[in-house]
Amino acid sequence: MTVLECRSVVRELGEVRTRAVDDVSFSVDQGEFVALTGYSGSGKSTLLYLLSALDRPTSGETWFASRCTSSLVDDERALLRREHFGFVFQFHFLLPEFSVLENVVVPLRHRGVELADANARALDVLGALGIAELAARRPHQLSGGQQQRVSVARAIAGKPTIVFADEPTGNLDSTAAEATMSIFEELVRQGLTMVMVTHEPLFAQRAHREIHLRDGKIVSIR
Ligand SMILES: Nc1ncnc2c1ncn2[C@@H]1O[C@H](COP(=O)(O)OP(=O)(O)O)[C@@H](O)[C@H]1O
Ligand SMILES: [Mg+2]
Repeated sequence: MTVLECRSVVRELGEVRTRAVDDVSFSVDQGEFVALTGYSGSGKSTLLYLLSALDRPTSGETWFASRCTSSLVDDERALLRREHFGFVFQFHFLLPEFSVLENVVVPLRHRGVELADANARALDVLGALGIAELAARRPHQLSGGQQQRVSVARAIAGKPTIVFADEPTGNLDSTAAEATMSIFEELVRQGLTMVMVTHEPLFAQRAHREIHLRDGKIVSIR
């Protein structure tokens, strides 16, 4: 079953209207793990932002399930993202003044989860990722790998349908990168759909499918 789709998507950026994404069409099935690869500047991040309804195409359409996300207004797309999508970026964007637990709880509260439930669910997820004992720490008291694990916990605590990750291992040492990759694989085994931008050929190979971009166009699909 298709859960995500782009149809002839073009995204022009900047004064000179560079075609960062240039007539891209493909779809992602529920439960699929898709890697987006390509050199720096090939349009990977721009495409990820379009697929995840963070951005809208200049022309063409993006779809999530039965909804045309490119035709929604900003507020509707924000609601849809909050409900259905989780995000992991290269840099963790954890809130420095909050504890690990609070960093996972805050987005749940934004979704309307009661405090007691949010705390319980956050602790569950931190436990599942092997970092429950870090719950009271602040982000600066963690290693890069631990910070990224907290970002993953935050992304999945709301039980999203799809997690979008933009070079999630780009800032990690090889051990932490492997640990993060293993967590993603386990989440996919449990039914999560995953779209990941990566520079690492060995990680891209571990996805079900690799979509390779050059100059904003798809040049190969494995
Ligand atoms: N805000 C922007 N304004 C103008 N050009 C941009 C902007 N963001 C990205 N680009 C250009 O769009 C192309 C694709 O960028 P990006 O999607 O960030 O590539 P990647 O993630 O593969 O490195 C590049 O040529 C980049 O310079
Ligand atoms: Mg990028």
